[in-house]
Amino acid sequence: MTEMRIAATVPVELGQRRYDISIGSGLLPNAAELLSGQLGRKKTAIVTDANVAKHHLETLLISLDAANIKHSAIIMTPGEATKSYAGLAEVCDKLLAAGIERKDHIIALGGGVIGDLAGFAAAILRRGVNFIQVPTSLLAQVDSSVGGKTGINSPHGKNLVGAFHQPSHVLIDLDLLKTLPMRQRAAGYAEIAKYGLLGDQPFFNWLEQNVEVVLDCAQGAVDHAVRVSCETKARIVTEDETEMGVRALLNLGHTFGHALEASTGYSDTLLHGEAVAIGMVQAFRFSEMQGLCAEGTADRVAKHLARSGLPTHVSSITTTLPAPAEMVEIMRQDKKASAGKLTFILTRGIGEAFIAKDVSDNAVVEFLKKDMQQK
Ligand SMILES: NC(=O)c1ccc[n+]([C@@H]2O[C@H](COP(=O)([O-])OP(=O)(O)OC[C@H]3O[C@@H](n4cnc5c(N)ncnc54)[C@H](O)[C@@H]3O)[C@@H](O)[C@H]2O)c1
Ligand SMILES: [Zn+2]
Repeated sequence: MTEMRIAATVPVELGQRRYDISIGSGLLPNAAELLSGQLGRKKTAIVTDANVAKHHLETLLISLDAANIKHSAIIMTPGEATKSYAGLAEVCDKLLAAGIERKDHIIALGGGVIGDLAGFAAAILRRGVNFIQVPTSLLAQVDSSVGGKTGINSPHGKNLVGAFHQPSHVLIDLDLLKTLPMRQRAAGYAEIAKYGLLGDQPFFNWLEQNVEVVLDCAQGAVDHAVRVSCETKARIVTEDETEMGVRALLNLGHTFGHALEASTGYSDTLLHGEAVAIGMVQAFRFSEMQGLCAEGTADRVAKHLARSGLPTHVSSITTTLPAPAEMVEIMRQDKKASAGKLTFILTRGIGEAFIAKDVSDNAVVEFLKKDMQQK
């Protein structure tokens, strides 16, 4: 059996729905043992995608077989398009065909697409089935697998149909990142940097020293980055599970970023993390323009993100973007707009983000005119 090393266990304290995030290496080959407390009924269904299945499904199956846990696997087409009504119907019907009952567990083995889709299927199948997250992309390990937001996209927009459904365990095996393409690692890194930028300057300083080793998945560095990210997200989610307040800070760079993603059709032209990287730099530049934050801060953020290979300015987007006023309209349609006013996460410096609910459309349009012309 592969040697296992647990680097950290992060609790997510949500009363009766509390669960642990286990972070380490060699965890997938030992999954049945690690999940023995959960997989009591000896039956499970794995939802994954074809890319992840190729590299990692066999390892999980061997572990389950050794523990005599019956399993079936549902292998979906990789990509955002799978997070759809059709994808949901396919997963639900296959889970029912596999005889999954309320007390059984569904294992989501994949990136954020699989986690969101399988999690939502678990939330609604038989009015709620248990599920376990085994995130395989860096983005899923530091962000989407923690916090209980599940859902699919509608033709009206991203993540518009969903539910809060907490997993019963999150198993983060850092070894799985070794097969993740570098562009996807960088996209996940944007969310790691976000945790420093929103509220933890010492962590951002540490990232400035360690970005390359984190992206290289070097032991010691990647564990630290993933642990701090999960701890931060867990703390914020515990305080505000359903995003009535402080959880909105996690949207740093996302109001700008979502508008860019929507403008590029949620395609491979611009990955979510790439849009967030550009959006975070825009949030800092906008904060500078409003006199909230010292000049030069946005440049420091941009320089750092660029080292991970992330884009930091709209000029790196190859497709034509809508005009500034139209971009603001797109932001307005985002679910984060409430009662007509746009909510932005602005900042007074690195690690000092705050929720700004009264930003005028005009100020944003003026900023975008300036920002989109530069470079
Ligand atoms: N629920 C939340 O709180 C939350 C938060 C952030 C993002 N999200 C959602 O997450 C999704 C994006 O997640 P993502 O970036 O993981 O995308 P993804 O699931 O599409 O994974 C990215 C790509 O990497 C591949 N992949 C994943 N793990 C791999 C591995 N170990 N080796 C090789 N290839 C691997 C996948 O097949 C896919 O092609 C979006 O739908 C977004 O809305 C949800
Ligand atoms: Zn994000």
